[in-house]
Amino acid sequence: MPSPNAAGRAKAVAGMGFGRGKVILLGEHAVVHGRPALAAGLGAGVKTRATEAEADALHAEPWSVTVRPGEDEPLARAFAALLEAYPSERPAFHVHADVGLPGGAGLGCSAALGVAVADALDQALAIERTPEARGELSLRWERVFHGNPSGVDNMMAAVGGVAVYRRGEPLERVRPRRPLPLVIAHSGESSSTKEVVAGVARQLEKEPARVGELFDGIAALVNNAKLAVEEGDAKALGQLMDMNQGLLSALFLSTEKLELLCRTAREAGALGAKLTGAGGGGCMIALAPDLEAAGAIEAALKPHASMTLVAEAGAA
Ligand code: PMV
Repeated sequence: MPSPNAAGRAKAVAGMGFGRGKVILLGEHAVVHGRPALAAGLGAGVKTRATEAEADALHAEPWSVTVRPGEDEPLARAFAALLEAYPSERPAFHVHADVGLPGGAGLGCSAALGVAVADALDQALAIERTPEARGELSLRWERVFHGNPSGVDNMMAAVGGVAVYRRGEPLERVRPRRPLPLVIAHSGESSSTKEVVAGVARQLEKEPARVGELFDGIAALVNNAKLAVEEGDAKALGQLMDMNQGLLSALFLSTEKLELLCRTAREAGALGAKLTGAGGGGCMIALAPDLEAAGAIEAALKPHASMTLVAEAGAA
């Protein structure tokens, strides 16, 4: 519903926005330390609408949370950090967000929200910005939640599709020969990306050779996975995902529950399975041979997961 102005008349919606969720197919954590990651945008995400108001505010559903810049709370600080990038001579906005992703799950919920807020504000203020530039801009939002974001979540939230992301480099789009049917299952364990990323940085500091080699191994898997996606070689991609899961486990990022989900998915016909995002909880992704098989894998995962979802990455 449009918010009423002081005179009680409904104000027109000034801007609509969207930010996608994402899955990292391969390369999480190594991407924080300069290696490439292969990621895919999801259809699910965050929808926003910005309407002129007396003062800036952000309201997010289904959390029933309203924040204002100046408040000492992460969402309010992220909103304030984003607003600082806009001209000071502008109307104030009420931004309403419908968050269609679970938070703390490795699906890039906070980045999707940041991108969606920026998208609605850009439209409301008639600011022309490419999706890539919006991805960059919303990094200031993401930094509030997570001290050292690689930027992959923001870029994928803004751009979508399938792509190789490397810190500080332009996004390299990947054209899948065939769409990738994915089954996503939430372990029900929530984890803090900020803490998990800091834990990996501590491991790197203590054991630079071992952890550096793991990151290089992950980078090699990512490069091969990109080729597998382009060639439509789902079997090879699945094997590379399994290998990536092994390297992530060696970084202590998996949990018993995530291992159970990976095993269940493979036994139900998945070509490969791994955690996605920060790990330490959150979601697992499994690659299915086709959409029908994805349904069977999802059914096998349901009793063990707090949420499941089938998504086709790279579908036209
Ligand atoms: O858990 P998520 O959705 O925030 O994904 C984090 C991905 C990491 O590689 C672990 C961190 C990053 O900034 O790239």
